[in-house]
Amino acid sequence: MEHPKNYIIIQPQDFPFKEYLFPFHIYFYDEENKLYKKFLYANTPFNKETQKEFKENLMKGYQVAVPLNQQKTFFKFTGKVVEVREIKEEKEVYKVSRAELRNLHFGLLEHKKELKKAMENDDFTEIIRTTRNVILQFPLNLSNDVSIAVMLTNDLPSFDSFYNRTMVLSYFFALYVKLQDTAEISKLIASSYLHHVGYTQLPTFFSLKQNFSLTDNQMHEMKKHTKLTAHLVKKVGLVMSPDIEKIILEHHERANGAGYPEGKTEHQLHPLSLLLAMSSHALEFSSGRIDGKKHQLFNVLKSIKEKNSLPGLDFNFGKLAEKAIEEFVLQFEKEDS
Ligand SMILES: [Fe+2]
Repeated sequence: MEHPKNYIIIQPQDFPFKEYLFPFHIYFYDEENKLYKKFLYANTPFNKETQKEFKENLMKGYQVAVPLNQQKTFFKFTGKVVEVREIKEEKEVYKVSRAELRNLHFGLLEHKKELKKAMENDDFTEIIRTTRNVILQFPLNLSNDVSIAVMLTNDLPSFDSFYNRTMVLSYFFALYVKLQDTAEISKLIASSYLHHVGYTQLPTFFSLKQNFSLTDNQMHEMKKHTKLTAHLVKKVGLVMSPDIEKIILEHHERANGAGYPEGKTEHQLHPLSLLLAMSSHALEFSSGRIDGKKHQLFNVLKSIKEKNSLPGLDFNFGKLAEKAIEEFVLQFEKEDS
């Protein structure tokens, strides 16, 4: 379900606590992060469990919100008149100029020495910190996807981890294909953080064992992590564009249709899915997750670029990813000379 843009804010005293079913959807507004989060769809029981969760949200300081287009329904049901506090359109609240944002994004490329050092030493701590500091400057009001990317950057642990490495590498790839739209970059960043959440629904075994040693049945199970992740992300009910869910779902698809879960081809995929696919796979391969051996990340990226068809790296990530990796390798080889 597409989430609405505009809402009315309901004061706690105007909310009909005693009712069991409501003819309107209920959201919570997190003012600090400028996020509307779905709480209860219309006609869903407001039972003990949801009442408890409702109170907890109020305790956190979240405000009750109802979609603006259900204002009349709310009035008919409660008899309460609620003042409309319209949410301004994104462009009206746009405070940072495009030029400033462009400088912010491309300024990250000046830190490529940190990324080079990270790849050589297999320690991404410093470049993760630098990249996070850039993301934390994105203007929250630009789009829901931007606020989600910033919120995740702020809330997730910043240590050297697979999801933080994926976020850094995906962002660099995006910059090397000259992507400068903050909302689009944010989709890639949010997807990078979230794309393996589905593994939490599988036995730990799958997060530890190298792919080459899995049986056909185990591979089949492991591949479910794409759909599981997309399902979990949807279930959380964050208000974000459907692109993030699509990018997550498609992160094991390949341009030539050799991927999963759907075996889609390049023109059917979201362009950012293949950028995430490349960064996620290169990092998995480099960590030893695929063939059980550790490989230096830059060598892995060079192998993908040179299409030398090493087992486990013989994938087609499509034109955009090809452009990204060509520029990436060129820039980092320049750094050597
Ligand atoms: Fe994956």
